[in-house]
Amino acid sequence: MLNEIEDILQQALQAVDAAEDLKALDEVRVRFTGRRSRLRRILGGIGDLPGDQRPSVGQAAGKAQRRIAEALEGRRLALERAAESEAAIDFTLPGRPQRRGHTHPLSATADELVDALRQMGFTVADGPEVEDEHHNFDALNTPADHPARDEQDTFYLTDGRLLRTHTSTVQIRVMERQPPPVRVLSVGRCYRKESVDATHHMVFHQIEGLYVDRGVSMAELKGTLTALGRRVLGGDTRIRFRPHFFPFTEPSVEYDFSCTLCGGRGNSDGGRCRVCRGTGWIEIGGAGMVDPEVFAAVGYDAEKYTGFAFGFGIERVAMIRHGIDDIRLFLESDLRFTRQFGSG
Ligand code: PHE
Repeated sequence: MLNEIEDILQQALQAVDAAEDLKALDEVRVRFTGRRSRLRRILGGIGDLPGDQRPSVGQAAGKAQRRIAEALEGRRLALERAAESEAAIDFTLPGRPQRRGHTHPLSATADELVDALRQMGFTVADGPEVEDEHHNFDALNTPADHPARDEQDTFYLTDGRLLRTHTSTVQIRVMERQPPPVRVLSVGRCYRKESVDATHHMVFHQIEGLYVDRGVSMAELKGTLTALGRRVLGGDTRIRFRPHFFPFTEPSVEYDFSCTLCGGRGNSDGGRCRVCRGTGWIEIGGAGMVDPEVFAAVGYDAEKYTGFAFGFGIERVAMIRHGIDDIRLFLESDLRFTRQFGSG
């Protein structure tokens, strides 16, 4: 009886190996382990055997049954895998397109602005986003009782440091490090406690420029910004200055570029222009002549040197250029948004 079981096992294992496809394998399974198979008959008849044979026959038959089941399963997996890899080398199937990454619209806008300013002689300087009050406020002539220092507007860390509210901090660091002339850009992330809506975010990006030398004038500021506007918004772009106040510049202005959509006429498509809301102008940022107090803070001689500074939000320029109406889109990393700005 034990020999017969061994015989069945060997035959079954051979048959499993020889099965060429899943259908053949299933026939093997039925033949060797099905209800009418020899093995099942032996198992069913164990009760009729003399008592001393029952344990050994039962054990051998059970073991044979398990080994056949394992072999069947192994063979089934192998056949399935083979079928899959055969399908995988079907060269007639269409390829799977690989998406190429591309520059984020904000980075692309920043790169273009920085490139334009580089050609005018500016270099880029870097500085920390976690700043101290000295670089963010004091050295910029923003005294301790100034409303901008309010905890309502600025994110303070528990150790008294803060998240920079503008990139002017970098300009202070550069002036502390080197004597004039200075022609430098600071580019990067800024933080303010804004309630977030379609045009405000507590995280945004700025580009600021600083030019200090003998005899630097407001006319040069206007010329620089005009050239920048024409490079990135179009050759007919005009600029206007409006009087304003910043603690770190005197005189200070806010500047607008003529509207890119209506060309400054205030109406387009027969109605009020939706980009400039009919005014013909788009607000861009702030600028002015560096306040002598700032020069004093960094040890520059305000009798010898003058300088201009300007700043603006990169989001704002990108929104105007691409007709984006919600600033929140820039930070959401929604691929349906960012993919619209690449070629891939
Ligand atoms: N630092 C100012 C701001 O963040 C912008 C500015 C820069 C204004 C330089 C004037 C001169 O609002």
